[in-house]
Amino acid sequence: MANYKIATIPGDGIGPEIVAETIKVLEKIGELFGHTFTFTEVLAGGIAIDKTGEPLPAETVEVCKNSDAVLLGAVGGWKWDVLPGDKRPERALLGLRSALGLYANLRPAVLHDALKEACPLRADIVAGGIDIMIVRELTGGMYFGDRGRRDTELGLAAWDTEMYATEEVRRIAITAFEMARKRGKKLTNVDKANVLESSRLWREVILEVAKDYPDIALDHLYIDNAAMQIIRDPGSYDVMVTTNMFGDILSDEASQITGSIGMLPSASLNKDNFGMYEPIHGSAPDIAGQDKANPIATILSAAMMLQYTFGLEKEAKAIENAVTKVLNSGVRTGDIMSEGKRLVGTKEMGKLVLEAVKK
Ligand code: IPM
Ligand code: MG
Repeated sequence: MANYKIATIPGDGIGPEIVAETIKVLEKIGELFGHTFTFTEVLAGGIAIDKTGEPLPAETVEVCKNSDAVLLGAVGGWKWDVLPGDKRPERALLGLRSALGLYANLRPAVLHDALKEACPLRADIVAGGIDIMIVRELTGGMYFGDRGRRDTELGLAAWDTEMYATEEVRRIAITAFEMARKRGKKLTNVDKANVLESSRLWREVILEVAKDYPDIALDHLYIDNAAMQIIRDPGSYDVMVTTNMFGDILSDEASQITGSIGMLPSASLNKDNFGMYEPIHGSAPDIAGQDKANPIATILSAAMMLQYTFGLEKEAKAIENAVTKVLNSGVRTGDIMSEGKRLVGTKEMGKLVLEAVKK
């Protein structure tokens, strides 16, 4: 019996709806397995801009730091798109990642059996399924490097810097190798070492860390080739490790090839496995407040929280099994709807998953 403090950040758009369903599922887990979860809701993103004038109030960071884990819905929306870069809702995400030291971003891309028809790739290409874990570095590289503007002969110029220090690469490499060890024992490093000096150091460190993992089959792809291979033969990839910038792009691509971005969770972890958990999809303002959003990505993010931060494997599995069961029963939200299935809204989907959770 344990008590876990969870900071919740519903955020914008569909965020509040999907987080509400997820909280109910966690409470059901608590009842069944004898844990208590205490939720503290805080502001971030557009709603925080509206209420406090800034995307990431100091209080939000404080509450997150004093919690055991963070559950986030989504941030952003058209309303705030006109604001300058440092005032946009997305700043909240970058600020949280950096303030909480969340350098390891885990983004699984899984093709669920029941959703094979949603996959945009030809059936023969995905016959063996897709189960890729992208490990993205999340607090370094171009996102956080030196940037600025200056006048040049060719007019105003702007720059962002890609820089990685050895220790930054080493810790994400260790995360990726450990992950590979728990999965298919295969790791693909993705970089651009044929051009970038930062990638050359990145690869040197990966090779150095690899010496401690002789049981893991390691290979390397340049990012352009990786973007191609992941479509040509997605089934041949297990764990992929890459930089913040490349991981941003590659993880969107990987999620799209499963055909159901509304299904995919993510975890962002620090060195102590404290984490922030959120769906991979955005705030979908076009369907916000209409009971149309798919809550499954957020519910599966809660399963990742149970697994990675709380070490509650059985409980995490119970959520995953419930989701599989509900999908197998033919129930679908709009984003994953196909002929002959039963269309339901956010609340109904949340309720069905909750009811399917068994000890
Ligand atoms: C993501 C998003 C963010 C990123 C944006 C919203 C800042 O695209 O989590 O992948 O670029 O990291
Ligand atoms: Mg992205």
